[in-house]
Amino acid sequence: MKKSLAPNHFISIAHLTDTHLFAESDRLLVGIPTDGSFKAVLAEVKQTLPNVDLLLLTGDLSQDGSVESYQRMRNILDSYQIPAYCLAGNHDNLAVMQKHLPSEYVSLARSLNIGNWKIILLNSVVTQAVEGYLAKSELIWLEEQLNSERDRPTLIAFHHPAVAIGSPWMDSICLTNQDQFWETGDRHPQIKIVINGHAHQDFDQIHQTLHDSVRCLVSPSTCVQFRPQTPTFQVDELAPAFRHLRLYADGSIHTEIHRLKSGQFSPDLQAAKYNND
Ligand SMILES: [Fe+2]
Repeated sequence: MKKSLAPNHFISIAHLTDTHLFAESDRLLVGIPTDGSFKAVLAEVKQTLPNVDLLLLTGDLSQDGSVESYQRMRNILDSYQIPAYCLAGNHDNLAVMQKHLPSEYVSLARSLNIGNWKIILLNSVVTQAVEGYLAKSELIWLEEQLNSERDRPTLIAFHHPAVAIGSPWMDSICLTNQDQFWETGDRHPQIKIVINGHAHQDFDQIHQTLHDSVRCLVSPSTCVQFRPQTPTFQVDELAPAFRHLRLYADGSIHTEIHRLKSGQFSPDLQAAKYNND
C-alpha cells in the first residue's frame, strides 16, 4: 500500500484478534455471541477511527475452521471497505481460510510496506497443536525480508505470544521457540513491534535485544477475555476490545486499547469450561 508519510504523521492500524467465529452466526463462546461481538468491535473501530488505514487480524479468526465462518467474516470485512490483513491461529483451518477468506479488501499477504513501515505476518501454527512454533523455513524467510529493507521500522505479527506473559498455563502454549525468534531479532534493530493474539488479554512489555528494544504487544479478543497473571485458565469479565496502533514515520509508536462498554457482551462464568483447545 502506497501512502506518503510526513515526519509527524502516522499509520493508523486497528488490531483485532481471536474473533472465534462459528459456522452458525448465533453460536456462543462462553456465553458471548462471537459474531455479534466482532461486529460491535468493528463498528467501534469505524466510529472512533474513521481514518484507520488497515485492520490487522492475528488468528483464531474461526472457532471451528468452517467454510461458513470465513465466508461470513469476508462479507463482514468487505462491508467496511477497510484493507484487512489476516493470519491464522491454532483454531483456524489454513486451507479453508486461504480458499474462502480473501477478497478485494481481505488479504493473506505475508508482508506489506505502508508509509515508512514494513509489516511482516508469520505463521506460528503447528497442525493439531495448541502451542506455536516458527518453522525453520519461516525464520529463513523472515531473515530475508528483514535483510531486504534494513531501514524500514518493522512490525512483526503472528498468533502465539513471543514472550512469557506471566500466566504459567498460557506461557506453556505460547511460541515454543521464542529463543530462535529473538536470535533473528538480535540481528535486526529495525524491528520495533512484535504483536500477537492467542492470550485474549492486553499485554505490553519491552523486550531488550542486543542492539535495541522491541515493544511486545498482545491484544484482547473481540469476544472472550482471559484473566492475566493466573496459574490456571480463568475467564475475565472485561468486555471485547481492539488495539489501536499509531506508527510514526520516525519509528516511534503510540498504542491504546479501545474496549466496548461493559455489560453489552458478558461472559457466562458458569459455562466457562473453555479449555483453550
Ligand atoms: Fe483464541
